[in-house]
Amino acid sequence: MSTILITGCSSGFGLETAKLFFERGWDVIATMRTPKPELLPVSERLRILALDVTNPASIAQAVKAAGPIDVLVNNAGFGAPSPIELTAPETVQSLFQTNTIGTLAMVQAVLPQMRQRRAGVIVNVTSTVTVKTLPVIGIYRASKAAVNAFTESLSVEMEPFGVRVHIVLPGRSPETRFGENARPHLRGLGDPDYAPLIQQFIKNVQDDTGPVTYAPDVAKAVWRAATDPSAPLRIAGGADAELWMAEAGL
Ligand SMILES: NC(=O)c1ccc[n+]([C@@H]2O[C@H](COP(=O)([O-])OP(=O)(O)OC[C@H]3O[C@@H](n4cnc5c(N)ncnc54)[C@H](OP(=O)(O)O)[C@@H]3O)[C@@H](O)[C@H]2O)c1
Repeated sequence: MSTILITGCSSGFGLETAKLFFERGWDVIATMRTPKPELLPVSERLRILALDVTNPASIAQAVKAAGPIDVLVNNAGFGAPSPIELTAPETVQSLFQTNTIGTLAMVQAVLPQMRQRRAGVIVNVTSTVTVKTLPVIGIYRASKAAVNAFTESLSVEMEPFGVRVHIVLPGRSPETRFGENARPHLRGLGDPDYAPLIQQFIKNVQDDTGPVTYAPDVAKAVWRAATDPSAPLRIAGGADAELWMAEAGL
């Protein structure tokens, strides 16, 4: 029996991934900042633990309570649509603290047990916005691109120890709470210079023509990373993600 620990399971990709692995017989540790047991089935195979990836004590406590972990999925994250010039230092801090440093801290907390066992899989969820030059989400892109970069290096470092490392890159998914969670951080609409750019950005994210990413696409990409030893380092999550990665030559 294999055990998976997933961060950010209160909604979206994390919740869907927890459901998929549970349905397929795994032991699942679904972690959430604020545990909501009603979101998932009641079972001995499913544990819900409190975990805020920006809080070292919370990480240490959750990893200790989890016990042996075969697959770690770093999914917790948020976005902040704001032009570079207008992004508040607190927002920059918070984006990197959650998306980048939170992911790194989880990796560092779980890796020792995997390296000692010479087995395990780490899956870091980033985004296909990292493979294209896009305005308005520059700091978010940077926070996720940094994860891509250290994950690439980690995959080489872990090769001799039998620990597999993967990046799942989802495309745009209007069905999760990502947009709603990003909205309070939106900046620039009230600025005459930036307003046209922001309006165009809002139009683009509301565009319902063309392919998008659904939560089960991301869950399946994580499944592939977890269970297929020949899976590539980077795995697209969603039809639009596949297109963007192909365009970028990845
Ligand atoms: N949706 C998209 O278009 C899209 C595209 C590409 C990549 N992604 C990435 O995919 C991942 C999942 O996003 P989603 O679309 O499923 O969005 P979502 O529905 O907003 O889910 C994000 C999850 O991260 C959690 N989270 C945020 N800060 C956290 C922290 N400090 N500690 C622990 N958990 C935290 C949230 O928990 P709370 O409920 O406590 O806030 C929530 O469970 C994110 O990393 C996101 O950047 C999303």
